[in-house]
This record gives sequence, structure tokens and C-alpha cells, in this order.
Amino acid sequence: MREPFYRGKVRDLFAVDESSFIVVATDRLSAFDVVFPDPIPGKGKILTHVSNLWFQAIRRSGLQTQLGFSDHLLETDVMRFPEGFRNPDWAGRAVLVKKCKRIDFECVVRDYLAGSAYKEYVAQGTACGIPLPPGLRQASKLPAAIFTPATKAETGHDENIPFEQMQASLGPLADRLREISLAIFKFASTEMERAGILLCDTKFEFGLLNDQIVLIDEVLTPDSSRYWNAKNYAVGTSPAGFDKQFVRDYVESIGWNKEPPAPALPEEIVSKTLGLYAEIERLIQTTL
Ligand SMILES: Nc1ncnc2c1ncn2[C@@H]1O[C@H](COP(=O)(O)OP(=O)(O)OP(=O)(O)O)[C@@H](O)[C@H]1O
Ligand SMILES: [Mg+2]
Repeated sequence: MREPFYRGKVRDLFAVDESSFIVVATDRLSAFDVVFPDPIPGKGKILTHVSNLWFQAIRRSGLQTQLGFSDHLLETDVMRFPEGFRNPDWAGRAVLVKKCKRIDFECVVRDYLAGSAYKEYVAQGTACGIPLPPGLRQASKLPAAIFTPATKAETGHDENIPFEQMQASLGPLADRLREISLAIFKFASTEMERAGILLCDTKFEFGLLNDQIVLIDEVLTPDSSRYWNAKNYAVGTSPAGFDKQFVRDYVESIGWNKEPPAPALPEEIVSKTLGLYAEIERLIQTTL
């Protein structure tokens, strides 16, 4: 058995050679940045499939040539991985990718007021330092999509930062990443509108390879994005997503303090969660 050189909260990374590695999406679930003891069986395959569908759609969109970036995907079929890496257990849940120098910022785009941005807006009328008009409520659509980067913290929680801080660190590269992130977001939200799904927000990661910008990690999965069903959408509420909402609600209901270890999950919560992941997978597959 090969050992991963890195175990993320959800994905395991296996070294291949100087220029590539394999990302295996496990069925582990993390919420509030803590990994749960119970897997969600099949979740890793769903996330991999969704991400691969979006990588392909983004390639077809023409945005890469238009804006000057590429993506990290080399191979999605495990049976075509380099010899010695064709592990049947990985089928559908592993991708071979280009090893890039990761840019240590999360490129977050938001079209609606939710999550940490909503909390900040309530406290001080801004979202990640961007002033917003008064009178917005939870889940309000923003006047225009905004780019709200966060640092990628080695340990613990990622932290929202003003765009100026990203610019101070990366220079003009920050502006390019903002432009690319907003463009991919607009493309994706327009696509999903046809399926009756609102893309509330999402997080992209980028890397550099020979000084060129590469879209890396997972793209537009329900783990990295909030998808809302337009049917259940109402301003002033917290619309249900297609992800760990049942898990979050459950652990809050039992009063978990959000510090490790995470509690065990009842079978009903596991199957409801898997049902949501499967539903958004189906909607994305039929739309793209
Ligand atoms: N092509 C790539 N080149 C370099 N690093 C990559 C690439 N694609 C993904 N990564 C990194 O691989 C890791 C994937 O693992 P996972 O997402 O499970 O980690 P994580 O627990 O979310 O940790 P992190 O907070 O670092 O993202 C992430 O750190 C991600 O930034
Ligand atoms: Mg990650």
C-alpha cells in the first residue's frame, strides 16, 4: 500500500514524480474544520465527478484562452494513470494533476450575503472590507458579485482579508486572480440558473507553473461552494444548501462545541447528506 505524502481533511495526495501527483477524494466529511469519524459513503466520488465536470466545462467555455490561465488536470481515468498507480479502489475518486506552486490565498466569490460575509455585514456594513449598501438581509443578492479573498491558514481557520492585503503580497497577480475568479463564477452561475440553482458563493484555488496561472484543487463542488435551490430561496432566511447542512444542524442541535473530536453521526443524517450531494451532482451533470 502506498502512503500519501499529505493527508488533507478530505483528500489524500500521493507522489508520482517531479511534475505530478494524485489527489484521492476520500469519503471523509469535515465541518467547522473538524473531520468527522463517520464517512459519507460515496461522497468522494461525487465530489471528484462534479469537479471534473466543471473543469471540462471551463475548458470548453473559452475563458482559459481569453484570460490566460490553464488547469491542473492531467488524467481522470485511473486506468490511464502511470503504471503502478492504477489502483482500482481509486476509480472515480482520483485525479492525476500537475504539481504547482500553490498561491496561498483562497479566491472566494460571493453573489449573495451568507456565511462569514453576512456576519461581518451585520457587525459593520461591509463584507471582507467591501462597503455594501444598507438594508441588505441574510441571503440578499448583492448589487454585483464580489471577490473576497481569504488566507490559507496552515492550521485552524482561514481568515477573510481585504483585497488590498492580497495585492500587497502578490502585486498585479492579485488583480488577475480576481478577474479570473469573477469570470469563472459568472460562467458557472449562468449555467446553473438553467437548472433552477443559485450559486451563492464559491472558493477557487490557483497555483503557478512556469509563472503561468493554473486553476488547481477542486472546482465548484458542493464542498467548496454554496448552491441554493431557487425554489427554496427567500431573503431573510438561511437557504438550505446541497452539502453538510444536515450535519451542521445536527451537531448544533446536540450542542457540540466544534472542537475535536467530532461526534458520531446518526445513520439518518449520513443518508440525508449523501442524498443532497447526489442531487446536486445530478443537476450539474444534466445541465453542463
Ligand atoms: N495542482 C496542485 N498543486 C499543488 N497543490 C495542490 C494542487 N491541487 C490541490 N492542491 C492542494 O492539495 C490539498 C488538497 O487536500 P485537501 O483539500 O483535502 O486539504 P485541506 O484539508 O482542505 O487543506 P488545505 O486547507 O490546505 O486546503 C490542498 O492543500 C490544496 O491546496
Ligand atoms: Mg481543501
